[in-house]
This record gives sequence, structure tokens and C-alpha cells, in this order.
Amino acid sequence: MEPIKIADDVYWVGAIDYSIRTFHGFSYSTHHGTTYNAYLIVGDKTALVDAVYGPFAEEMFARISRVMPPSDIDYVISNHAEMDHSGALPEVMRRLGNAELLCTKRAVDVLQKHYPDGWDIQTVATGDELDLGGKTLRFYEAPMLHWPESMFTYYVEEEILLPNDAFGQHYATEHRFADEVDQTVLWHEAEKYYANILWPLSRQVQRKIEEVLKLGLPIRMIAPSHGLIWRKDPLEIVKRYLSWAKGERLQDKVLIVWDTMWGSTTKLARAIAEGVRDAGLTPLMRLIPHSDRSDIMADLLEARGILVGSSTVHNDILPTVAPILSDLEVLKPVGKKAAAFGSYGWGGGAVRRIQESMTRGKMEIVMEPLTVKWVPSEDELRAAYEYGQQFAEKVK
Ligand code: FEO
Repeated sequence: MEPIKIADDVYWVGAIDYSIRTFHGFSYSTHHGTTYNAYLIVGDKTALVDAVYGPFAEEMFARISRVMPPSDIDYVISNHAEMDHSGALPEVMRRLGNAELLCTKRAVDVLQKHYPDGWDIQTVATGDELDLGGKTLRFYEAPMLHWPESMFTYYVEEEILLPNDAFGQHYATEHRFADEVDQTVLWHEAEKYYANILWPLSRQVQRKIEEVLKLGLPIRMIAPSHGLIWRKDPLEIVKRYLSWAKGERLQDKVLIVWDTMWGSTTKLARAIAEGVRDAGLTPLMRLIPHSDRSDIMADLLEARGILVGSSTVHNDILPTVAPILSDLEVLKPVGKKAAAFGSYGWGGGAVRRIQESMTRGKMEIVMEPLTVKWVPSEDELRAAYEYGQQFAEKVK
């Protein structure tokens, strides 16, 4: 349980959670676990920036103790009150005794409701600074990145941004820096994190990033509260956030997501995929019972478009399709090009329901739905192939 020195007098003192497989209830799969990052900044005075999830408090204290006695810490900065970062605060405040707890005004109520322990809390606002004796922490409120009380801390002299959840990834590893790990896994986890947590907040993300960039702060390192620290070209993740927020950075991929009752909708999905492929784009095939909903949303982030298919049952979608439609409605992939397809026997309610969800998600439906009664004939499969080609042309 060693601390990791990430810059002069800055130590990572967080915890690594290799076991966690779901986050935010069961809505987000964490195949690679996660980390809860806390940072110790040591000057004449010392600040602990963020804490860890409650069950990991001892791991954090063990790392801190290798740097200094925890009771010598002067300040605790709470950038974000969600429990994965604040859960250890009751134990932190108990052991640190006289430490001051700093957070935004909006965080006070949230912390008090989570932990009615009667702490003496000091509030900070954008531009406020804390002097640790030649080392300066400056605060920037970041409402809705991703909670109303969220805040970034900036270590002025070392040019390190500590933005809590922003720019994080759920990725547990013994490495601490993004340039040390498998880049495919790293970027997939960063995309998945944006898609599942920040996508519906894209306007606020764009506004806050543009505001921070306008300040012209030199940023040598970005140390988020989950996953790896960005030290090599740290602004690359910022640029990607801006692109994702604007719906840019699209790759030549089309996502085809479906479920089927007796195979007819699968036949349609495969014919559509061949059409997409022959039009020059790559179809990503995701049969819902065998695909993970939060991975599907990660795939969607940089896809040019999505086709969602379902057989009709009881004049509605198959129940397995419902979580995907729910994600489309709440994550709001605004402007993403989309269409619906599926087979039916008498009523054809599935495609109508899929389109309703796409509309609620503010997606752009670019084609009338493709529907087939009972089992698709050769002519209907040819039409599905052409449908895929036409969809690809529309999203190019
Ligand atoms: Fe990592 Fe919003 O908590």
C-alpha cells in the first residue's frame, strides 16, 4: 500500500478496486474494476484532495501514513460529494481531528444529508485560492460535471488539474499513468465513461471546457478521481470530450442492435449489415441478450448511426430491448442518425415504440422503419440489404 509520487510533493493515495463489476446500481458494467483516486499535496500545510469509497478507507490511510501521519493533514477538499469519493469522509474527519473541510456552497447540503456529523464546513467558489505555503490550490466550480456541487481543484505551481469525475475511466491497474497501459482498453473505458455518465450533460461539458480553456491555464497533468492520470499530452482527453460533446469524431461504423423471437429479425439484421458493409462502413453487430448495455452506449459514441431492431410481441418490443431504449432516452445522443426495423405477425408495435424512444432521445430518424410480416422472403431480404446500403449512404 505505497503512495505514488506523481509530482513534486503530490502523492496519489487512493485505492484500487479490482472486484467491482457494476457501478451506479446495475446500470454501468465495470469489466476492468475501478480506482478511487485521492491526492495528498504537501506544503507547509497539507491538503487531501478527495477521499475514497468508504470500504477502502484503510487502504487510503495506509498510503497516507507512508507520507505523513494522517492527523497532520490540515485541509480536506471535497470536489464531489458522491459516495465513491466521500464515503470515507466520516473516518477522515474523525482521524484528522482539526482539519478543515472545504467544498462548494452547493455541496454543503449534500454532504450534511449524507453525513449528519455536524462538521464545520468552509465553502469556496470559483477563483478562491488556498495557500499551503508557496503552494496554491485554486478552485473552479463545475456544476453538472456531473453533479450540481462538483468542483475542480487546480494546483497552480505544478499546473495539475484535479477535476474529480471529469476525464476519468473505470480501469483498475497497478499503473497510475495513462501512457503506461493498454491504449485500446484505456480509450474504450474513457469513451464508455463519457457515454454513460456525461453524454446527457454534453452542453454543460462543452460550456465548462470552453470556459476553462479560455482562462489559458497551463495544464501539465490531469489527475481525475477514477482510473489513470493523464500526463503525456493531457489535453488530448479534453479535446475528445469537446468532440464527444459536439457529436464529432465519428468513425466509419454503424451500430446494429437487436433481439429476435424466432430468427426473422436476426435475418433482417444480417441482411442490413451486409448492405452497410457493401456501402463501405463497418457494421457493429450487437445481439442484445449477449451484449452489455453500457458497452453498447460506448460503441454508439463514435458510430455514425444506429439501427435498433425487435420482433413485435404483445404489440410492443421484446422486453430485452427495453433497457437499450431507456438508455437512448436518458443519455440523449442528440442528433445521432437512427432507424428501426423488425418482424411482426399482426400488430407491428415494436418499430413504433423504438422510434418513440429515439425521438425522446433527440436522435435523427433518417429512414422509415423496415418491417416484415412473419418470415422475410428472398425479396424482403434483398430489400433489407438495400435498406442497409441506403442507411449507410445517409450517415456517411
Ligand atoms: Fe465517481 Fe460521481 O462519482
